[in-house]
Amino acid sequence: MRHPPARRSPGTVRRAAAAAAAAVLAASGAVALAQAQASAAAGCKVDYTANSWNTGFTATVTLTNLGDAVSGWALEWDFAGDQHVTQGWNGTFSQSGKHVTVRNADWNASLGSGATVSPGFQATYSGTNEAPTAFKLNGTACTGAPGPTDPTTPTDPTNPPPGRVDNPYAGVKAYVNPEWSAHAAAEPGGSRIANQPTGVWLDRIAAIAGANGSMGLRAHLDAALAQGAGVVQLVVYDLPGRDCSALASNGELGPTDLPRYKSEFIDPIAAILGDAKYKDLRIVTVVEIDSLPNLVTNTGSKPTATPACDTMKANGNYVNGVAYALGKLGALPNVYNYLDVGHHGWLGWDDNFGPSADLLAQTAQASGSKANVAGFITNTANYGALKEPYFTIDDTVNGTSVRQSKWIDWNRYTDELSYAQAFRNRLVQAGFDSGIGMLIDTSRNGWGGAARPSGPGPKTTVDAYVDGGRLDRRIHLGNWCNQSGAGLGERPKTAPESGIDAYVWIKPPGESDGASSEIPNDEGKGFDRMCDPTYTGNPRNNNNMSGALAGAPLSGHWFSAQFQELMRNAYPALP
Ligand code: BGC
Repeated sequence: MRHPPARRSPGTVRRAAAAAAAAVLAASGAVALAQAQASAAAGCKVDYTANSWNTGFTATVTLTNLGDAVSGWALEWDFAGDQHVTQGWNGTFSQSGKHVTVRNADWNASLGSGATVSPGFQATYSGTNEAPTAFKLNGTACTGAPGPTDPTTPTDPTNPPPGRVDNPYAGVKAYVNPEWSAHAAAEPGGSRIANQPTGVWLDRIAAIAGANGSMGLRAHLDAALAQGAGVVQLVVYDLPGRDCSALASNGELGPTDLPRYKSEFIDPIAAILGDAKYKDLRIVTVVEIDSLPNLVTNTGSKPTATPACDTMKANGNYVNGVAYALGKLGALPNVYNYLDVGHHGWLGWDDNFGPSADLLAQTAQASGSKANVAGFITNTANYGALKEPYFTIDDTVNGTSVRQSKWIDWNRYTDELSYAQAFRNRLVQAGFDSGIGMLIDTSRNGWGGAARPSGPGPKTTVDAYVDGGRLDRRIHLGNWCNQSGAGLGERPKTAPESGIDAYVWIKPPGESDGASSEIPNDEGKGFDRMCDPTYTGNPRNNNNMSGALAGAPLSGHWFSAQFQELMRNAYPALP
């Protein structure tokens, strides 16, 4: 799976992207905002903000439900002047004369008590663009207190919302998946780690009930209760057109299967997680890894673009699917949604970093509220070292920056910890609550064993310095499939560093990233040559050898030889 990196060396691509981003910021900083609102009491509260120009405007109508939960909503108002909605989002708009009605979209229909949705629209006007002053939710006047007038103040409810804790891993035992545990324990030496918590992957519709005789979602949750676990880690992974930049984890749903994704995958998962029996379990949901970053890095005119990623960008089904999942799952008070932010060897370049954060923010907002997201995860199923102790991004060799080495290639980050902490700050800047926490998947980024450097490389050239000192022994940072030489990383651990909720093992060690040769299957999985040790690469790994182990089974299937190597090269070493 994971993470066709897709970066580019400095040059026209990066500079053009940076310039465009700066222009957008300048424009949004310059617009004036009109503000109005309804006032005082129960039921609902509305904050209306508009950005006007001479004949048009856009507006966001942030509705907070101060009453009981509703399972569908209609918000109405009258324009004071001559204003006409031309298009809307996060709801279905209609207008008759001055009267506007916006009804929920199907993914944001349920609005819990205290929950917020933010439909927005574009409109034309003539004369003055006065804001409406009275709103109704499902026929009842919104008389709640006015909201913030500063457009830079997030209008989302605070994170965590009532009932959620700041860090779901804190103070509780994490669920050990008995199926993974049995695989691990059956390997010689495997009992040393068989009691570690790992991610439970809901990677197809059949996984909800239990595919091919394996445990389904309820069975896992029941087992978690029986273990006295307080937190369960799920990976929600069946997006339409899944894994658009690679083939090894293509899934069962085609690019246009959004309705099936909603009704046959997300809705049934949400229904099970919402069962009162499980209300005291904190449920971490890692939502659709790889998807949104692929829209940033592997589309359009980028040398790393793929037709499949272009399709998913154009049809909107990654964004809509993720927004739907976040909204549905985020409505459950014991669910903690974490979104994927790739890893430093993917999004650590300037071209990719900010645009990814902004896309995540837009998608979360499209789910109804950014508060539907509890945090973010880096390095899922990837191999990026947690810390590179023997060089920093600011080092130079004979006046040449480490950033100019072949390995770093102008990236801003050398390792996952510095990347995760920096990305967290960028996400807060993008409007997420300052309480968000990061997870780092340390299942396979240990890089211990005999090949592990014990000190910095020689300061002869910048490449000798970086290559001699780096823990990450991959041939290229963009390699992602069954990497030869990898080891288990930090054992799962709560709140290990500032801004980090936990080190987690989301990719279960021993489960393959993809088959090293073509294997027919009914899981929708393709053969990605990045998993073939004889492959000489593509633009996403700068045409290097794949570095993959030979003899690998399909992604997700048990790969004993890899498991043994991961144990041998564990860092910290196993007893
Ligand atoms: C596969 C999934 C599997 C997961 C965890 C992914 O690459 O596509 O089927 O559950 O890895 O091993």
